[in-house]
Amino acid sequence: MEPAKSLFTQILDRLRPVIYLASNPLSLVGVVLTTLGGGLWLFLLPTLWRGSAENPYLGILSFMILPGVFIFGLILIPIGIFIKRAGLKKRGLPWTDLPPLSLDSPELRKLLAFVAATTVANVIIASQWGYSAVNYMDSDQFCGLTCHKVMAPEYTAYQNSPHSHVGCAGCHIGAGASWFVKAKLSGVRQVFAVALNDYPRPIASPVSNLRPARETCEQCHWPQRFSGDIFSVRPSYAPDEQNTAAYTVLLLKVGGVTWRGGVGIHGAHLDPKAKMEYTSTDGKRQVIPQVTYTAPDGKVTVFTANDVKVTPEQLAAGEHRTMDCMDCHNRPAHTFQLPERAVDQAISQGRISPKLPFIKREAVEVLKRDYPSHDAAVREIATSMDSFYSSKYPQVHETGSADLKNAIESVKAIYLQNVFPEMRVNWGNYPNNVGHMDSPGCFRCHDGSHVSPDGRAIPNDCATCHDVLAMEEKDPKILSDLGYKGLLQ
Ligand code: HEC
Ligand code: HEC
Ligand code: HEC
Ligand code: HEC
Ligand code: HEC
Repeated sequence: MEPAKSLFTQILDRLRPVIYLASNPLSLVGVVLTTLGGGLWLFLLPTLWRGSAENPYLGILSFMILPGVFIFGLILIPIGIFIKRAGLKKRGLPWTDLPPLSLDSPELRKLLAFVAATTVANVIIASQWGYSAVNYMDSDQFCGLTCHKVMAPEYTAYQNSPHSHVGCAGCHIGAGASWFVKAKLSGVRQVFAVALNDYPRPIASPVSNLRPARETCEQCHWPQRFSGDIFSVRPSYAPDEQNTAAYTVLLLKVGGVTWRGGVGIHGAHLDPKAKMEYTSTDGKRQVIPQVTYTAPDGKVTVFTANDVKVTPEQLAAGEHRTMDCMDCHNRPAHTFQLPERAVDQAISQGRISPKLPFIKREAVEVLKRDYPSHDAAVREIATSMDSFYSSKYPQVHETGSADLKNAIESVKAIYLQNVFPEMRVNWGNYPNNVGHMDSPGCFRCHDGSHVSPDGRAIPNDCATCHDVLAMEEKDPKILSDLGYKGLLQ
């Protein structure tokens, strides 16, 4: 007898009870799960290796769920065998003294056929499912909607932003292996947080481990780009019966980096030869007691706020950051508005008709009320606005019913885009750092009270950043001089 053959028969003999006993439903389910988990995992492996699927949830799948399925399947096989053996023993049936195995034995043939069939099926499922899973997980619907309630505020604001076509991963993860791993770990934590219902409402901002702008924003935006002065006309409407329009006109000195060095807002802050570092102590980057500026010529100036009382220990324990795009543009994709501004914008864009008496006042008033949920808000906004016009302006309610209907729809939409009672996101929860009217913004530093040891303050003269050409004027001279006709007038 040839040795190889005897080895084969020996192995078969050893395996005989296992194979015989393994043909039970539980073990077969185990086989299916094991091959499915293993197959999918192998399929996903190259994607993970390349780090090209920039998504933390793929990590959850490949590091937790698939191995879990694989191991669960592995555990089922011996349990099935054990139960079958116990059953045979109990009924006094033979379970050690079995007919010899060969390819003729029905048990082995059945098992082999089963494994072959499930493997083929699994390969098909794995490749199809794996491919669409990878695609799906790179999509924004997945990021924004998988944890629907949790991400709803950011996803909604994102869809209305200038970056609605930049994937979540483009800013939050970026490319490259190390960030991929970081994101994956935090993704795993997030899934547990959601499963255990243990996450902050609203979600905390800033995002402490957001990837630096150099590797995200600057993939698309050129930091030294020269924008020059930006002319900005901002209509607003008074809370009176006529919703009287007024205009603020700014010439924003955005500037950029020129051959002479940085000029204007971007120039001062984005000059690659300069460096702007700061320390904040409130965890939200809103209180900034100290700024260290390294000028292009290498001169270092430390500006200290003389109106914020902090001890050296508090300062040392604060967050130290080098300023980048996100310190001003902190809401590039998730801009939440305030009710007055949102209504002004809707009126100026024609979504709300200024012909409706007191519409500015009424809209802002209903928006600012507390509602327990989106459903309740939508209902009450509609009934409240409708009853105001039917009782106070019955003729408007009749003749202007189309205007009123549109206005109600727009006010509802403003509420739905900005307030999320379930996540406790309310007006003004997420301050915008570009500007200084609605939240401290630029004035976190440019407030006149951040001074250097030689008594020089970070400039806060109004003309440092813009020329205010008109401020809430009904008919600004600058606009008539320019022949400007407004958007819809
Ligand atoms: C253009 C870049 C950009 C894109 C695209 C983007 N984000 Fe953000 N996101 C940010 C920045 C910047 C912050 C942090 C603001 C801060 O640190 O102050 C942020 C913050 C967040 C926060 C923390 C809470 C908050 O509102 O500050 C969540 C949650 C979030 N983003 C989810 C998403 C989701 C989901 C998507 C895709 C639907 C997405 N982001 C797309 C830039 C982006
Ligand atoms: C994938 C490319 C991409 C990335 C990444 C990106 N942006 Fe943009 N960004 C754009 C495009 C395209 C526009 C112009 C959109 C438009 O005008 O509708 C834009 C517009 C802007 C604007 C002008 C918005 C306005 O209201 O007109 C600002 C500010 C901005 N981006 C800042 C950022 C910041 C900050 C980041 C990083 C957190 C960032 N962008 C990341 C592509 C990108
Ligand atoms: C010191 C604060 C500050 C920093 C830092 C900053 N910006 Fe700006 N940026 C502004 C202001 C202010 C405006 C004008 C805002 C407006 O139009 O309302 C602006 C305007 C813009 C615009 C629209 C104007 C245009 O030319 O299209 C883009 C795009 C932009 N910034 C991108 C960036 C990027 C990218 C970075 C980082 C490399 C950056 N900004 C860093 C304050 C800043
Ligand atoms: C973290 C602190 C900080 C914040 C926030 C900040 N700046 Fe500055 N900014 C500085 C410092 C420091 C200087 C340099 C002061 C100096 O040496 O004269 C500066 C300089 C400037 C200059 C040049 C001034 C000049 O005359 O040379 C402009 C313009 C400017 N900032 C605009 C802005 C705008 C607009 C914002 C808000 C969107 C803003 N900054 C937010 C710290 C800050
Ligand atoms: C450090 C820079 C800086 C300084 C100093 C500054 N501003 Fe501004 N201001 C801005 C920026 C940036 C915006 C635009 C914000 C935005 O795009 O919404 C703005 C917007 C405004 C607006 C328009 C607000 C709106 O409703 O849209 C007014 C009015 C204004 N500033 C007045 C002033 C006055 C008055 C002073 C002097 C006391 C001053 N600013 C000082 C940066 C500055």
